[in-house]
This record gives sequence, C-alpha cells and structure tokens, in this order.
Amino acid sequence: MYVLNTWYVTAWSHEVTTTPVKRMVCEIPLVLYRNVSGQVRILEDRCPHRGYPLSAGVTHDDTIECGYHGFTFDGAGTCTRVPAQSTIPERAVVRSFPVVEKDGWIWVWTGDKSLADESQIPDTHYMNDPAWAANTHSYLFECRADLIHDNLLDLTHESFIHTSTVGDDYIYKHGITVEVEGTVVSADRLMPNVAPPPLYAKTMGLDGLFDRFHCTEFHVPNYHILHSGITGAGRPREEGYLIKVLNGITPITANTSWYYYCFARNFAIDDVQATADLQEGLATVLDEDADALRLQEIGLSTRPSNVHDVLIAQDAGVAKARRIMKQLLDAEAQFRDAAVTATSH
Ligand code: FES
Ligand SMILES: [Fe+2]
Repeated sequence: MYVLNTWYVTAWSHEVTTTPVKRMVCEIPLVLYRNVSGQVRILEDRCPHRGYPLSAGVTHDDTIECGYHGFTFDGAGTCTRVPAQSTIPERAVVRSFPVVEKDGWIWVWTGDKSLADESQIPDTHYMNDPAWAANTHSYLFECRADLIHDNLLDLTHESFIHTSTVGDDYIYKHGITVEVEGTVVSADRLMPNVAPPPLYAKTMGLDGLFDRFHCTEFHVPNYHILHSGITGAGRPREEGYLIKVLNGITPITANTSWYYYCFARNFAIDDVQATADLQEGLATVLDEDADALRLQEIGLSTRPSNVHDVLIAQDAGVAKARRIMKQLLDAEAQFRDAAVTATSH
C-alpha cells in the first residue's frame, strides 16, 4: 500500500528538540528526538518491554528512556539499561530509522536500511538560500496521499477552487506537455499573454499581460517541486518572477497525509508585507485544497471498487505518475516476497 524504500519528510527542523516528538509515517509510529550533539534520532515509537510509546518518555544525552518502567535505548535502538535488573534481554531492541536533516526538513527512510541512499533526497536549497524568500506551512490533509499527487499534477482545479488567489478561467484552456524521466513526471503549462493571478500581482507589483507558466515536477512517490512564475511576453522564463513550490507529501494512514509546503520566490525577497500577504493568501490556497480533497476522499469512500476515474487529456501527468507509482509498489512487493523466501530457507 505504501512505497517504503524512500525518504519521507517527517518534520521541520525546529520541531525536533530533546523533548520527544511523535509522528506516524505509512502507519509506522515514530518517535523523533535530538541528542545533546544536535543529531536527530528516529526510533519506532513502541517500547519492546510492554508496548508503551517511547514518545511519552524523556531523553538523556543520546538515549531515550521509556516513561513506564525506564528501559533506555540509544539512537541505534539498542537497550542500554533495564532499571529493575542488571541483564538486558536479547529482544529488548527498538527499530531505528536512517535520518537526514537538510534545509529545514527532516527526512526518514522507512524501508530496508541497506538501500538508504542520501543522494536520492531532492534539491531543496530554495528553503535555505538568501536569493529566495520562503513562506512555509504544514497541513494535515484528511485524504490519501494519492489525491494530493493528482491535485498537484492537474492544476486546472485552480480555475475552480482558487478563484480569489491563484485561479483564473484561462488555466484549463491551455493544455499541458508531459514528460517522464526515470521516476520523475513533469506536467508543464504555458499560458501566454494573460493577467498574473491576484495573489501574485500585488507582491510582484505587476499590471498588464504576461506569459504565465507552471510546471509540476513529481518525484514519485512523495515529493513535488512546482516551477512557476510570470515573465514578459515571449521572454525566457529565467528572466521572470520565479516561484518554486516545494511539496513533501507523507502518508500517515490510508486516508490521512502530512503536507509539508514551502513557497520560495526570487522577487520582493526583503519585503515584509509581501511575505505577510503571501502567508495569508497561501494558507487560503491550502485550506481550499484540503477541503476539496477531504470531500473527494468522502466521495471515493463509497465508490464501488469496479468504478474508476474518467481521465481526460489534462490528466496525462496523473496517468503517467500512477503507472510509475504502481511499478514502485510492485517492485517493493517482490522485494518483500524475496526477503520472506530467503529467511524461510
Ligand atoms: S513498557 Fe517501556 S519500560 Fe515497560
Ligand atoms: Fe490547489
């Protein structure tokens, strides 16, 4: 049901301190904490003694102490202390997870540890680069992660649910160009000679007609970067007002997801009012998306399993991404089956 051999955004850097934090990723309960040297540790949030959540305990140096009977574990999940006896039972071990902290996000690898490769984490420097100004949000979406992926790949919905912020009728009148490279699907839409969307026009200080563009680049299974902006009619995109929207989509359960969001712009970067206006406007956009996808999830929950979506040309990116997602899920199922066969011989 979930692709586990990948990195998921699981928290913002500032959220993780020496006080344990509780999270769930792909139905795996996790506890996150920072040790005295500042490194983030992630363990399964369940004490092997009698199942108490470790997130309800306390940390000491590099270790976390269970709040129920004091079993203590280091960052690798090895038990270092059982207060009531001097011997440590062999099975007193907690699963630990590879962690990478980068540009303000904490990524966790939920699959086979031997496959964890830090170089697979996408480039997120826009969150941490003085040439860009960033607005950030995190949201709990009451829907399966797949609906967020579809939503980001088919931006014609902006014409209908984001009318006061980034939407306009002209969006769905322009088609998309879809490309696939490995496990990355991009859906690009150029909208020549149009008015900038209301939320951007003010912060950009623009009036008149421009070429607008947005290209969703979905790194299947869990990360999207939107390359969006406005440029002069017929001018190269790089010359324009550029926006990079970073979206870390992390499944919690079958019908809830974390949405980690960063909107980075290369214009008005020192403009405090622009940042404040965008913070409010983008929260509206995300509220509208969250509401729409919550309703869609309700719609789908009663749909018979033999009824399928009716996809149209604008869903070309959606269709391609779904195919790659299925390939990744099938590959993981085979990998798991092979591991089970190997251990049973
Ligand atoms: S349940 Fe954790 S020490 Fe007993
Ligand atoms: Fe949206």
